[in-house]
Amino acid sequence: MLILRKISELRKFVEKQKADKKKVGFVPTMGALHRGHLSLISECKKNNPVTIASIFVNPQQFNDLSDYKKYPRTESADLKLFKEKGCTAVFCPDEKTIYPEPPLLKFSFGTLEQVMEGAHRPGHFNGVALVVSKLFNLVTPDTAYFGQKDLQQFLIIKKMVSDLGFNIKLNCCPIIRDKDGLALSSRNVLLSNDERKAAPELYKGLCNARNLLMKGQSISQAKKTVQGIFRNHSFIRLQYFEIADHKTLAEVKNLNDHENVALCIAAFLGKVRLIDNVFLKM
Ligand code: PAJ
Repeated sequence: MLILRKISELRKFVEKQKADKKKVGFVPTMGALHRGHLSLISECKKNNPVTIASIFVNPQQFNDLSDYKKYPRTESADLKLFKEKGCTAVFCPDEKTIYPEPPLLKFSFGTLEQVMEGAHRPGHFNGVALVVSKLFNLVTPDTAYFGQKDLQQFLIIKKMVSDLGFNIKLNCCPIIRDKDGLALSSRNVLLSNDERKAAPELYKGLCNARNLLMKGQSISQAKKTVQGIFRNHSFIRLQYFEIADHKTLAEVKNLNDHENVALCIAAFLGKVRLIDNVFLKM
């Protein structure tokens, strides 16, 4: 497995693959890998003889400096995992390589970013779009792989690809969970023992609400039930629970008006912020 740190090395490598007519798949990450990230590599390898991953903790997408500082960084363990999984190359740039100067470009995604993560993390999706568009220009993959775990991120990247005309297919992969249902996240290692024990309740709350909706309960009832679970909870502070169209993220008022809806949750456990979602197929 090649470890590429410079843009010139990456470009040379990609040019060679294209000259050999090999399809290139790309999995961008911020490292601190878990089975969720590795599932994207497996999916990528199914359809591409060349799998490029990237590791870059992107300062532009952190609206909270302490979150950026404490974000886990485990590069040597990550490289080992990528190698075992069969990645062809990993791009590990430093900050100056990606941002030789502070970027001035600003993205705006309208209603797609006015809800959920966008509403609670100002500037977050601008930072995501900056780094992903830059990585897309450098790697020029045929297909890029993302997780449904970050549903809003996926929809925003999809819109960016369409608006800017990137010739890149996007693949949204299922959420990988621990045995107790907790969605895997690089931030899970930051949870205390008590917080880790409570964390699966986010997924349980989502499943509970989905069951109620499937049994015909109203949206407001389902919302009240989830909000009730977390009211006065010792370890979980709910930030939002939304029932949204799975493509536009518009608030769902009547289930019958939508082909598919997503139930999305965000909460703080101590200082650690976790998100999760499930789909309710119509
Ligand atoms: P990161 O949080 O490292 O996630 C990298 C990719 O792994 C994302 O597409 C994310 O949705 C996916 N992922 C995370 N947890 C997952 C899980 N439990 N199951 C399946 N996939 C999961 O998302 C980012 O990094 C950054 O915003 C990035 C796109 C790299 C831009 O900086």
